[in-house]
Parts: sequence; C-alpha cells; structure tokens
Amino acid sequence: MPHLEISDLITVTDPASGARLPVRRAEVVRRLREAGDPRAARIVAALPADRDDVLDPHAVDRLMIGVHTELQRLSEELRIGERLVHVLRPLFAALRATAGQRGPAEPLRLVDIGSGLGYLVRWLAATGALGPGVELVGVDLDAALVGEAERLARAEELDCRFVHGNAFDLPEAATVYVSTGVLHHFRGPALAEFFRAQATSPALAFCHFDIAATRLAPIGAWVFHRARMRHPLGRHDGVASALRAHTDETLLSAAAAPGIRPLLYEPRGLANPFCTTLRPVLGIRPHLEAPLRQAMGRASRRLVGPEQLAGTVR
Ligand SMILES: C[S@@+](CC[C@H](N)C(=O)[O-])C[C@H]1O[C@@H](n2cnc3c(N)ncnc32)[C@H](O)[C@@H]1O
Repeated sequence: MPHLEISDLITVTDPASGARLPVRRAEVVRRLREAGDPRAARIVAALPADRDDVLDPHAVDRLMIGVHTELQRLSEELRIGERLVHVLRPLFAALRATAGQRGPAEPLRLVDIGSGLGYLVRWLAATGALGPGVELVGVDLDAALVGEAERLARAEELDCRFVHGNAFDLPEAATVYVSTGVLHHFRGPALAEFFRAQATSPALAFCHFDIAATRLAPIGAWVFHRARMRHPLGRHDGVASALRAHTDETLLSAAAAPGIRPLLYEPRGLANPFCTTLRPVLGIRPHLEAPLRQAMGRASRRLVGPEQLAGTVR
C-alpha cells in the first residue's frame, strides 16, 4: 500500500499556471481509504467543504499554516538550523575559496525549494550563519505558505524574500539550491527530474536534507509528532513522511546527473540512527569536492559517493 500524506492531497496547484485547483473532499477520502489509511480518511472527512463537497480553500490554508507553525517549533527544538549549517557552512567556504576560478566571482545566492513557512531561510537571515553577501530566497508551490513566510520575514525585519513557484520550473536562479523535508514528496522519475533541473542550471551545488530512512525513523517521528504537534493532520503526515523517506541508494542514484558529483552525508552505515534525523544528499560541481572536504575537516569522512556507498551500508 502506498503511504500518502494528507497535505499533498488537500492542496492542488496547476503546475503550468500556479493556480489553486478545487479539491473534492470525497475524492481525497476515497484515495486515502483505498491506500488502506482509514484514520487519514477520517481526518479529511472532518474538514469543511461547500455544498458541492469542494474543500474550503481558506480553511485548508489556515490548517496548512497552523501545521507548518507546529513544524517550525519542532525544527527549533531539534536545532535543525545548526545541523544544516554543519554542512552548508563548509560548502559556502568551498564556494568562496574557488570564486573567480571560473570567471568573475558572482554574488552567492541560496534558494530554498519547498520553503514552507521559510524557517530555514529566516533562521539563516537572522543568524547570518553563512557569512556576509549571501542572498536568501525561499520558493514554494503553496501560495498561502509563501504569503505567511513573507509576512513573518517582514515582521522580523529580515533580509530575505519568498516567491511562489514550482520545484520543476524554478523561478529563481541560485548558486546553491537547498531544501528540508521535501525530497520524500517526489517519487519515481520525478525525484531524478528534481535534481536534473538544478544540475542543468548554472547552480554550483545543491544540498537537500530529508529524513534518513532508518528503521527508527517512523518510531522517532511518531514520538516527536505525538509529543509536540496538536493537529491530527500534522501527526499523521509526520509519520507518513518518515515511512516515505528515500533509501541512500535511491537518493544517490537520483542525484547523479551530467556535470554533478553526487555525495551523501552520513549514509546509514556511518550514522548513529538515534541522532540522525535529517541528513543531506549533495550534488556539487566536481571542482568543489576537494575544497569542500578540506573545509569539512574530519567530518568529510562521513561524505560518501556512490563508489563508497556499498561499503558503508550495513
Ligand atoms: C514537509 S513541507 C517542508 C517545509 C519546509 N521546508 C520545512 O522544513 O518546514 C514540504 C513543502 O514542499 C512544498 N512543495 C511540495 N511540492 C513542491 C513543488 N513541486 N515545488 C515547490 N514546493 C513544493 C510544499 O508546499 C511544502 O511547503
């Protein structure tokens, strides 16, 4: 049975126009029942809909913002920003060390794909963790989340911005594309297409963090979401995302694209499953590998390519 996330089903955006499409409640309930998930079907059946059984878009937007607000609190508790910067800071050091080698140095620009409420971008803007001169942009398919991320950034007087757009038709050029908790939403050929769109752009690297597919991940997700999230949708989708996490092999083979060196940080065999929640798959232009490893120091032993993966997986 496929594991489905409710949030993927109750918000539908036309990929060409970016317009919000109406969603029939009974249709979502049917899909969830057919997927063997009656609990998720009950959560959706309780959402407000109009006389034609179309889900109320304003109620859905409020719900998504509420659930992402709880997700941000969880990210704060798990110190996700610090964990990400452990890899992103050496990556930016490598970019600065090699700037100018391949033509005039361009300003650095980080674009977070599927930025949700923009926690990562806002945290980077608030802390200046990547150093000066890095432009920070978030992109998301959900217009309500983009609007709320932008509102929060203005209220917090942060130097960053948010744009409505699709990961498969990226509206913003980047030096480095990143994401958190997004990869498991893309399955099959879409996963490789996601990486390929960035590999064929002028970007120098991508660094996408998602749940590590350990045996403990679904249990850990249950405990954390049960303890810290109030809405049943957030609790449900938190566990479903851990069940959908991609394996090390899937990530490394999907990230391989011409002109890209795919690398995985902390693959299963090298990670402590009690400590690893999110970890990244990277794609870098080959000239960046040596400076990145140098900037990471001893931690670079945990950075493996496809040729080393077989030896690390237990
Ligand atoms: C689990 S949420 C993660 C949000 C945020 N990165 C975080 O860690 O809190 C996944 C996000 O990906 C966005 N998303 C899904 N498909 C997308 C696509 N094709 N293009 C852009 N964003 C997408 C969703 O709207 C949602 O905000």
